[in-house]
Amino acid sequence: MKKVFIETYGCQMNVYDTEIIKSVLGGSGYELADSEAEADIVLLNTCSVRENANRKVYNRIHNIQQGRKGEKVQIGILGCMATNFRKQLLENPKLPIDFIAGPDSYKRLPQLLEDLNGNGKEAKNFDVTLSEFETYSDVYPAQSNGVNAWIAVMRGCDNFCTFCVVPYTRGRERSRSPENVVDEVRRLADQGYRQVTLLGQNVNSYRYEDHDFASLLEKVSEVGGIKRIRFTSPHPKDFPRNLLKVIAENPKVCKQIHLPLQAGNDRVLEMMNRTYTQKEYLDLVDEIRSLYPQMVLTTDIIVGFPTETDAEFQETVKVMEEVVYDSAFIFKYSERPQTIAQRKFPDDVPEEAKTERIVKLNEIQKRHSYQKNLSHIGEIHDVLIEEESTKKSHDEYQGRNDGNKIVIFPKGDYHKGQFVSVKITDATANVLRGDVAEVLRK
Ligand code: 5AD
Ligand code: SF4
Repeated sequence: MKKVFIETYGCQMNVYDTEIIKSVLGGSGYELADSEAEADIVLLNTCSVRENANRKVYNRIHNIQQGRKGEKVQIGILGCMATNFRKQLLENPKLPIDFIAGPDSYKRLPQLLEDLNGNGKEAKNFDVTLSEFETYSDVYPAQSNGVNAWIAVMRGCDNFCTFCVVPYTRGRERSRSPENVVDEVRRLADQGYRQVTLLGQNVNSYRYEDHDFASLLEKVSEVGGIKRIRFTSPHPKDFPRNLLKVIAENPKVCKQIHLPLQAGNDRVLEMMNRTYTQKEYLDLVDEIRSLYPQMVLTTDIIVGFPTETDAEFQETVKVMEEVVYDSAFIFKYSERPQTIAQRKFPDDVPEEAKTERIVKLNEIQKRHSYQKNLSHIGEIHDVLIEEESTKKSHDEYQGRNDGNKIVIFPKGDYHKGQFVSVKITDATANVLRGDVAEVLRK
């Protein structure tokens, strides 16, 4: 029996896809190796959303090969780099890889691996065909964490934000039927999962016949045993009132919304093809807060998009100061092959300016996260225990509150997967700390 080891890079969808891959390979007679060193086949499930994600993978390929000291190992490149860098990967003779497969080809992996072993040919195998239909709705991912289960409800993206490679690497939007999603949620609840996270590149544009994302959330919330529903990643353009009301009013839907801003200036937003203005975005934030004032808001921001001036950047600062996010992922613009921005706009903001801008936004965000977290001291939060918190000591657990913030507390007799009420006593910009006040019978 051949042993396979899979390493995952990038977003949550990739982490999920790795579970799909494990399930497909497990069903075809492959054994999963615990470490790369004992594997016959190493698969890298890659990301190409920014340049440094790519670089890491190239380094890793060489590093795996060197570690084997001449002994043969088969290496496969899966995920977004396979579709986005197909030519470079296949045609570079110095790159010790054996095959590549894109995000819609995982059901064909056993075949690809078999061909690899049998044919003895020099040319590298590949399957990077993108599908309009593949949703893996018939594959149960090998969920492994025991506390939160991920479920991809839609895949692909049709938005074509000009900076983003996802529409090219993962293809067109397609959704799974609500019945199929609910069946899977039911199965997970039967296995003991109390929290599910609905996943999609553009999750709130979910649509299946007459069903939209709001109706999907409601259907999932009716599954007995499920106590918490999260979802990621949404786009600000797809938040109709009925969806906001479900999020604000359904007790099982967690009170946290990720609202990627990307930039604060209207000209930049238009060049990015984000389809909203600063005012529309801020109006949405107001509407959310009028329905649920304590909603946790998080965001993604890109600094140094082509032609962004200092004055335009200041508008991103302004929006941040106005919204005060609970947390934010902030990135320097990174030109990606095939994207509209790469074809139309020169990457002309100097590296120093990008650095200056990202430093500034990170400072602001740190201040805001700290301020938001401090405001929770004295409150009691329901926490789902995830794992031992190993940062400071083995005597503590960490879990997440409804707003998805990490809460750390002394272990006591509690266990992973349990809900407890924690009184918050301390906070940093990154975590909350407290003591268990009560065990919840959830
Ligand atoms: N450069 C920098 N950041 C990017 N993102 C996507 N594409 C790029 C790029 N080319 C960021 C966006 C997106 C997040 C997942 O990654 O902020 O929301
Ligand atoms: Fe990329 Fe925009 Fe689609 Fe998000 S919505 S995956 S940023 S194209």
